[in-house]
Amino acid sequence: MSESSFDQFRRMMDAMEFETLPLFSRSHFSWHLKTDYVGRRLVYRPVSESTQDDARRMLERFRLSAGAVVLAETQTAGRGRAGRSWVSPPDVSLYFTLLMQPEPAALRSLAYLAPLAAALAVEEISAAAGRELRADLKWPNDVLIDGKKVAGALIETTEHEGRLLALIGVGINVNLDVEAYPEIVAIATSVKQALGFAVEREELLALFCNHFESLYEAAKGGDKAPFAAWRDRLVTLGSAVVASGAGTRVEGIAVDVAEDGALVIERAGGERVSVEAGDVTLRV
Ligand code: BTN
Repeated sequence: MSESSFDQFRRMMDAMEFETLPLFSRSHFSWHLKTDYVGRRLVYRPVSESTQDDARRMLERFRLSAGAVVLAETQTAGRGRAGRSWVSPPDVSLYFTLLMQPEPAALRSLAYLAPLAAALAVEEISAAAGRELRADLKWPNDVLIDGKKVAGALIETTEHEGRLLALIGVGINVNLDVEAYPEIVAIATSVKQALGFAVEREELLALFCNHFESLYEAAKGGDKAPFAAWRDRLVTLGSAVVASGAGTRVEGIAVDVAEDGALVIERAGGERVSVEAGDVTLRV
């Protein structure tokens, strides 16, 4: 029986001294980080079940505050939206949870700011390597390259000492060889696969933090540009879709997104329905 990548990684970790343990270079990450607070606190976990749960648990112990990032080298139970799992092998991709403390009214904006920041980061790292790459968005928070998913975001909330906290879980397939994962090969891609060469995870995470902070601060200050940028990138708009989730199913043409991020679908009879959460399947 062949050894799984998790087993291999555990075996490798067991054989290493703690000082040599991180595969992710903090100094390389810091070199590219241009933020005031997002990513300034980085908690690195060699192995995590899920960074969402680690971040939740660490709130108290590590006194994490807004902008802190919990990053895992690998996740043994990484989860996606709608109960799906997230393929999280070591040393190839980014799995992290960014902690934010939004005003309740701004909570929903995180669902579009996170994928937008990921898309901009992917495009920037590609451009820096001399290649134009277009990252599209699919409602509500998938990042696509050539129609295949390269990143996704999962927003959860928790309360800590009377404060509402958002756990923004982001997974980016960076240098993943998707062919090695039959369960996702038909629907997923990676930055490496799209470019034909590997990129630095440290730089990509820093670029995500840079974009996220500036988008978040702009949106918080009332700037509509981040929302417009998200809307402009949505491949969902104008397409025939089936939206499902929370026991509902709406079929029609996706005609718009409301300011709170809800998808507006026009049914065959002309009735318009707002869908706040769920999954959409594009019908081609
Ligand atoms: C999705 O598109 O379904 C959301 C994927 C979110 C995956 C990330 S990886 C880091 C964080 N920890 C998790 O368990 N999930 C999120």
